Amino acid sequence: MHASVPTDLPALLAAMPKAELHIHIEGSLEPELMFQLARRNGVTLPYASVEDLRKAYAFSNLQSFLDIYYAGASVLLHEQDFHDMAWAYLQRARHDNVLRAEIFFDPQTHTARGVSMETVMGGLHRACTDAKNLGVDAELILCFLRHLSEQEAFETLEAALPLRDRFIGVGLDSSEVGHPPEKFARVFARCRELGLHLVAHAGEEGPPEYVWSALDVLKVERIDHGVQSARDPALMQRLAQDRIPLTVCPLSNLKLRVFPDLAQHNLRALLDAGLVATVNSDDPAYFGGYINANFLQTFAATGLDVRHAYQLARNSFEGSFAQASAKRRYIERLDVEFNAA
Ligand code: ADE
Ligand code: ZN
Repeated sequence: MHASVPTDLPALLAAMPKAELHIHIEGSLEPELMFQLARRNGVTLPYASVEDLRKAYAFSNLQSFLDIYYAGASVLLHEQDFHDMAWAYLQRARHDNVLRAEIFFDPQTHTARGVSMETVMGGLHRACTDAKNLGVDAELILCFLRHLSEQEAFETLEAALPLRDRFIGVGLDSSEVGHPPEKFARVFARCRELGLHLVAHAGEEGPPEYVWSALDVLKVERIDHGVQSARDPALMQRLAQDRIPLTVCPLSNLKLRVFPDLAQHNLRALLDAGLVATVNSDDPAYFGGYINANFLQTFAATGLDVRHAYQLARNSFEGSFAQASAKRRYIERLDVEFNAA
């Protein structure tokens, strides 16, 4: 990095190669595509227009968002629908210079409506395969809905296992408070035996204790969100020492009122404490921005600088589940970008 040369930081943030490690594919469904799929499938949405729907995107907390997010998924019925949704995201990711995307999907949202696991994963996986032509390496992570039972998570795992080669890991999402990680101890232990990668949402709205149990009971490799960890110095030390990546989603935190404004986001504190923090979009169609918008708005609000940009991009590759050789290639491309800046 040429520290003496003034850099156009917004341009660098946009251009730098990066990995996205926290994106719910159902949360990338833009209102325009939602209405298009509703028409194609003869589904009636409880909104008159795209504008009307967008107006409903005023959230007060995680649950107020989830209610609308699950309703929006009702337009997804056929394999092609899942493909089209994922393909739209992957093209957008390419535009934001995402080299690798590890994409969450919520099968239970669909199987509960009678859509088969094959339909869901068939469409998503085909889009991921096609994305190679865009220069994006895309993999799938199956998430269990934590407001449902562990038994239902086991049934979901059972239904997905014939398609084991189409996903690299499992996660845990949906309503956090009242559904601690340990509720899913046995199903995560089984997934671990199966050689799946393990992640979980923890410390988004929930307390630091949920991050501890995600680590110690579920034995996850990454924490999704994790921003509440800053309230517990011993936990911060643990996350730094074990180099546990945190997949932070600033615009999501803003829209779900985890922080009152972006200037008060604790991303800088997480980086200063030596944590492997990353920047991600979570549900970009609902929260007003894809990954580059998350970088640009957060840097503008908090005054993070070019060194933080490099660290965050580097963390995204190091924290990914890519092969070691691919990680080295990604980081070489990152270094080329910063040496040129
Ligand atoms: N599902 C989609 N987005 C989520 C979030 N931010 N937290 C928990 N579950 C989710
Ligand atoms: Zn999430």
